[in-house]
Amino acid sequence: MNEFSVQGLTKEEKYQWLLNNWPHFLDPKAPWFSNLSNAMALLKELFNHWWTGVYLVNDGELVLGPFQGKNACTRIEYGKGVCGTAWKDKCTQLVPNVHEFPGHIACSSASNSEIVVPIYNSLGEVWAVLDIDSVNFSEFDEIDQYFLEKFCQNLGSLQPKL
Ligand code: SME
Repeated sequence: MNEFSVQGLTKEEKYQWLLNNWPHFLDPKAPWFSNLSNAMALLKELFNHWWTGVYLVNDGELVLGPFQGKNACTRIEYGKGVCGTAWKDKCTQLVPNVHEFPGHIACSSASNSEIVVPIYNSLGEVWAVLDIDSVNFSEFDEIDQYFLEKFCQNLGSLQPKL
């Protein structure tokens, strides 16, 4: 299933489509980076935000993982920026205006709003964060948070051994 059309669907319908169809894209035999790459490609295809990617916990910091968009910073410290805060606080960061977020890390000056969702393993530990950036202010809301948190639950079992 390589080609699909989601034209005309509402945001909620696109998310529902993603949750319903993710099992068809997930390849349990493929390595984590293949599945995470496809997950990011699907999010990009569905919503076409400015930047969509994951940062993975590695050696006490976040490192850049599979993404769709322009090149980005490769390492983020614990508790720093929106991503590091989501990791430290273990909670989704919904940021309507990144310029007002203390310590926001601007990988791109085009980004104006952002949502970062932690990805947990079965022990409840954060092993990655999903980061989506938009050129629009206030692009993300509670609907995005609700569905992205559900989608990230689907990604939880993909934790690599880094
Ligand atoms: N803005 C993020 C950094 C990652 S880039 O947006 C891709 C942050 O403040 O953590």
